[in-house]
Amino acid sequence: MSEGKFYKKIVCIGAGYVGGPTMTIIANKCPNYKVTIVDISKPRIDAWNSDDLPIFEPGLKERVEKSRGKNLFFSTDVDKEIAEADIIFVSVNTPTKTFGEGAGKAADLQFVELTARRIKENSRSDKIVIEKSTLPVRSAEALEAILHSGNNSVHFEILSNPEFMAEGTAISDMEYPDRVLIGSKDTETGRIARDELVKIYAHWVPKEKLITTNLWSSELSKLVSNAFLAQRISSINSISAICEATEADIGEVAFAVGKDTRIGEKFLQAGIGFGGSCFRKDILNLVYLCEYYQLNEVADFWKQVITINDYQVNRFVKRMLRAMFNTLVGKKIAVFGFAFKPDTGDTRDTPAIYLTRQLCEEKARLSITDPHALENAKKDLDGLKGIEYIEDPYSAAKDAHCIALMTAWDEYRSLDYQKIYDSMEKPAFLFDGRNHLDHQKLFDIGFNVFPIGKPPLLHH
Ligand code: NAD
Ligand code: UGA
Repeated sequence: MSEGKFYKKIVCIGAGYVGGPTMTIIANKCPNYKVTIVDISKPRIDAWNSDDLPIFEPGLKERVEKSRGKNLFFSTDVDKEIAEADIIFVSVNTPTKTFGEGAGKAADLQFVELTARRIKENSRSDKIVIEKSTLPVRSAEALEAILHSGNNSVHFEILSNPEFMAEGTAISDMEYPDRVLIGSKDTETGRIARDELVKIYAHWVPKEKLITTNLWSSELSKLVSNAFLAQRISSINSISAICEATEADIGEVAFAVGKDTRIGEKFLQAGIGFGGSCFRKDILNLVYLCEYYQLNEVADFWKQVITINDYQVNRFVKRMLRAMFNTLVGKKIAVFGFAFKPDTGDTRDTPAIYLTRQLCEEKARLSITDPHALENAKKDLDGLKGIEYIEDPYSAAKDAHCIALMTAWDEYRSLDYQKIYDSMEKPAFLFDGRNHLDHQKLFDIGFNVFPIGKPPLLHH
């Protein structure tokens, strides 16, 4: 027993989009473990301890409330919690490096390294240290070197346990995962540590979904999973450009192609491009790794996934410009949705950022609406002039020349588009960046409608 009624003490360093939800589910499912999430950000921890959680994720609040104060705790006392822990998850951010060697590609590992040093300084007993953050291949080697440096007699066993949840569906992804991946060393202590982690997940994950591998396979599999997912989106988006040139319909093509069970139906939704904190960063990380090992052709292959993603936004803006008589100067554009996907307030690397910047360069006036992401949008676009942030989509669209739909929020389907159309400048345009709305109905109301990868519906 680690302490009193608990079998073991788990600490997670990093109370973000991954640390918060993953540890909440572990606490829910494993009442015999004490789970504490620590962070250097006091406002974040205060929010986790309040009714107003720092992230919006459907189903999360109920689950936090179920365990908080019983076996789930949030704290800024990083050193004390490290000292008392048996098992430590590292779930800090690993953004793309913006400076020095590898800038714009390599992962910035400063937060991981700081965390490792803090673990080393505060540990007086043996610990299992688990990489939950997405890291470059062979990071465990570096972690181990830091943790075992100096004359500390404590033993640290490193595991890799990458997270595959997607935002918006984080809870079901974690409660019913496709798989849980655990990488360990093939040594006696490595196998013991691996079995401790298997024991945690076995509380709710069927045995056949628990995959164990060596450390490097586990680290690489995370990068590859994200690269494959993003590659499917770029593949279908590249085809959407051909559809627009040939009057084929991307919905019909994706449906026909996806029916081949070898290809599958998922992740073939064409749109303005992928966003989110990880796809771009993890592909860049993979590209950097390939270049490091002088696998330049492989690097070029994966780079292309990002090139197509950028192309998709640029193409969208060009299409808007051309359709609206080659000038956007002074025109009001209502941007429907700013989050990188629905059911999250997260705006990291959202295509809406690239779109709004380009529209500002064209000197358009923007009114941005989103049910959960306006505060983040304001931060992302800080310094840009001529932008209004409006919660009510009807007000956002009033007097606008066009609507650009960026996020497939459910509520955008049930708006009264006749009322919206009546309040807009004419001719009224609607550019559907997610093929989310009923285009024929919008056309019948009077809109000129531009879907992705389908012929436009035009009144002139
Ligand atoms: P995040 O930015 O939301 O959270 C990271 C947290 O770590 C922040 O609250 C930050 O204050 C804290 N932190 C940084 N350095 C610290 C330190 N030294 N001590 C204590 N706390 C520290 O990031 P995230 O979205 O949760 O992502 C975390 C990792 O998980 C990344 O590697 C990411 O690639 C990976 N990942 C993210 C997702 C996702 O959907 N967001 C999914 C799978 C994997
Ligand atoms: C993604 C992966 O799906 C997770 O498995 C992974 O754990 C996570 O990245 C991560 O490592 O951070 P996430 O970015 O939260 O999850 O969301 P996705 O559902 O993958 O969507 C990413 C982007 O792709 C969104 O902008 C979405 O609109 C876009 N997308 C998705 C498409 O354009 N078309 C599709 O068919 C699917």
